[in-house]
Amino acid sequence: MCGIVGYIGKRDVQPILLNGLSKLEYRGYDSAGIAVLERDQIKISKVEGRLANLSGQMDKHPLKGSAGIGHTRWATHGKPSDANSHPHADMSGKFTVVHNGIVENYMELKKELEQKGVMFTSETDTEVIAHLLAEQYQGDIVAAMRMVIQKLHGAFSLGVMTEHEPDKLVAVRQSSPLVIGAGQGENFIASDISAVIEHTRKVYILEDGDLAVITQDHISIMKAETGEAADRKLLQIDWSVDQVEKGQFEHFMLKEIHEQPLTLRNTMLGRINDRDEVSFPELAHAAGAFKDVDKIFIVACGTAYHAGLVGSTIIEKLTRIPVQSDIASEFRYRDPIITDRTLVIVVSQSGETADTLAALHESRRNGAKILAITNVPTSSIARDADYVIATKAGPEIAVASTKAYTAQLLAFYLFSIYLAQERQTLGKELHSELVKGLKTLPVQVEKVLENADEVKLFAESIKEAKSLFFIGRGLDYPVALEGSLKLKEISYIHSEAYAAGEMKHGTLALIEKGTPVIALATHMDLYEKTVSNIKEVKARGAHVMGITVEGNVELLNAVDEICFIPPSLQLLAPILAVVPLQLISYYASLALGNDIDKPRNLAKSVTVE
Ligand code: F6R
Repeated sequence: MCGIVGYIGKRDVQPILLNGLSKLEYRGYDSAGIAVLERDQIKISKVEGRLANLSGQMDKHPLKGSAGIGHTRWATHGKPSDANSHPHADMSGKFTVVHNGIVENYMELKKELEQKGVMFTSETDTEVIAHLLAEQYQGDIVAAMRMVIQKLHGAFSLGVMTEHEPDKLVAVRQSSPLVIGAGQGENFIASDISAVIEHTRKVYILEDGDLAVITQDHISIMKAETGEAADRKLLQIDWSVDQVEKGQFEHFMLKEIHEQPLTLRNTMLGRINDRDEVSFPELAHAAGAFKDVDKIFIVACGTAYHAGLVGSTIIEKLTRIPVQSDIASEFRYRDPIITDRTLVIVVSQSGETADTLAALHESRRNGAKILAITNVPTSSIARDADYVIATKAGPEIAVASTKAYTAQLLAFYLFSIYLAQERQTLGKELHSELVKGLKTLPVQVEKVLENADEVKLFAESIKEAKSLFFIGRGLDYPVALEGSLKLKEISYIHSEAYAAGEMKHGTLALIEKGTPVIALATHMDLYEKTVSNIKEVKARGAHVMGITVEGNVELLNAVDEICFIPPSLQLLAPILAVVPLQLISYYASLALGNDIDKPRNLAKSVTVE
């Protein structure tokens, strides 16, 4: 995690770095700092806490220059503090480093440096890099950097600046994402595109092991290990600046919730033809590749894992291939049975999640075919997969994932139909009902959003709750898990999601008078059974918000409050049912005055294991 920016050009660097960091703050917000080359001398300003603290500090004591590096931190080694904030410098102050990742062998390196008399000023792993650069430097920063890299184990994307060579910045990528923005008479380094999109749409995506040297007018990329030039494509990014701005919305999360009708349309676009067949132009090279698949694993983390849980049910239902969903950080260590007929689907909004990427590599080693469903087609996960389905949700800035989740669900529906077409396992009637249902979803989500007030009062009423339960059966259960995660991460209210029929096996003991329960009852096959489970919690004093399909008015007799979603095919209901849950989390958190887009302890892109 952590965000890195760097700039070298002719303009005043401070506002460019601060603005770039504001776009990366979602990656970590324990502290922030920048280093600027001021008349050939490096000056650092850094402070614990949000970027606003740094901006305040720099308003009073601005730094002037036209080259610099910046950092926003999600603490791993060393608590959030001024001293542990990046950039870090060597003892002379002539070498500065910003770092995203973890240097796993830093203790050993630190000990060796200390024995040589080096004094450390922070508890971070990063600081060793600055001291090692000073130790290795013999007039060539690139040569020194390449020597230092050989000593480091772990994940490290770096931005480096030295007073000795004031006309250049050095960037290194090893397991954590980094891009180089190519401008006119100016160039940029950033952890992701959003930090440079205002200045340039032209970017190089560095690959693991790359080292880039950037000056005002030149970018050169080499393989750090050998020093050979690395041929990286200059990509033209088609995002608009608006996509990384909040616009009329108070928070990115609310904006992203409201973008869902559009992102669903975009994710569907060009993937359903006039005959209602699903095709993925990007899978043209995969013709027949899934024919022999006899087992599918879906592997992901957090919200993406919850999308995978829905995906597994849908794929099994439409194709009758056995599918198992796994949490990425568990999957890779449990020795799953994988053969060359196994398809592993990795799901990741960012495409950079370390656990998911490691599971991908482990699956590949065992001979599986890999399909990635990701929102970032230039990401590591996309690059390392055999096949990629892009969700077209656009940049997701809020830490709590919303529009990427529904786009992932849609990708699963489309892929399930695609696979079923290939294997001829889907009846004509269900096929056309599904496609019709998918096409209707964006309008239906718009309708749910128009009725946001149905859940707003309830959301405000739970702000004092100590604990809350989400219950549901069938596909409502993974949706309940997602609703519970969303609430926990941004409101900090404890909640649990339970398969509704499982409550009576223990958890029912926790229901007391007034305990809020959000009960999903959109699964019409299981409706009566869910209603019985609702009555069980109600009888123990729970205050129940029911979420069901329009027309089920009799549910009002079993619940205290109700929210209706438009009728759809039962299989498609998760996309509609999750929207009120996203809104409940948002409004509960708003009522609590929390920092919704940047919840405590979290970061958007989790590039450490
Ligand atoms: C929760 C959330 C996280 C992510 C998880 C995986 O709102 O966003 O649980 O889903 O960290 O991230 P990606 O999808 O980028 O791999």
